[in-house]
Amino acid sequence: MSWITNTLTSSIGRKATMSLTGLFLVSFLLVHLSGNFLLFKGDEGAAFNLYSNFMSTAPIIRVLEIGLLAGFLIHMITALMLTNKNKAARPVGYAVSNNNKKVTWFSKNMGLSGSIVLVFLIIHLLNFYFPYHYATMRYVNIEGEEYKDMFFLVATVFKQEWWYSVLYLLALVLLGFHLQHGFASAFQTLGIEHKKYTPIIEGLGNLISIILPIGFATMPLYFWLIY
Ligand code: HEM
Repeated sequence: MSWITNTLTSSIGRKATMSLTGLFLVSFLLVHLSGNFLLFKGDEGAAFNLYSNFMSTAPIIRVLEIGLLAGFLIHMITALMLTNKNKAARPVGYAVSNNNKKVTWFSKNMGLSGSIVLVFLIIHLLNFYFPYHYATMRYVNIEGEEYKDMFFLVATVFKQEWWYSVLYLLALVLLGFHLQHGFASAFQTLGIEHKKYTPIIEGLGNLISIILPIGFATMPLYFWLIY
């Protein structure tokens, strides 16, 4: 058993854990984005409300939620451990970096962009997740049955409390940079090096880092400025 513990607690093991949990979180974001597009169906939120009801009552989703929470926690705790280990090993830092990969401000500040995304996530859950599960909600009748009106809550937050829209847009820009650098280093860490496929995977990573923030940004923008 000790080789498993040794591998997982080694720097490369921790980096691999971060890469895999990061890719898992991205897969959640892709599903979350697709589901949220129901907001635009033009049916005053009926399909989105049915979807929200399914997402908060289906037992399989409860199990996936535990996996998701674990994914977030492992990703963040491993990041903290790696940062502390790196600082302890080199408290002063390199005077000159001879790494020929492009070093951007974002690639050096993944911890900062990640922490801001975490603050955004807490605000986001306070906006939607907690009210839906634990507060008194407005109900709406869909095909003869009463459902919590999540569509109304989303529309109200983004339109009436418009400063949330601004905050979401700023957080989404940071999420984009966090994903862009995260993808690049995840593939590097996992050792995916192939003359033909690496550029395709990298291109896909870049594309997802653009599609996710822009896709999510359409929602606050739509409710704030058009709805
Ligand atoms: C900006 C557009 C977004 C909208 C309109 C939106 C909407 C929602 C809604 C309505 C819920 C509650 C679902 C429920 O309780 O059943 C939710 C949950 C959640 N959102 Fe978002 N979201 C957006 C962006 C994001 C982003 C960018 C992230 C991550 C960085 C994120 C992460 C989550 C998580 C982790 C949950 C809780 C898990 C779940 O119940 O599915 N969301 N979102």
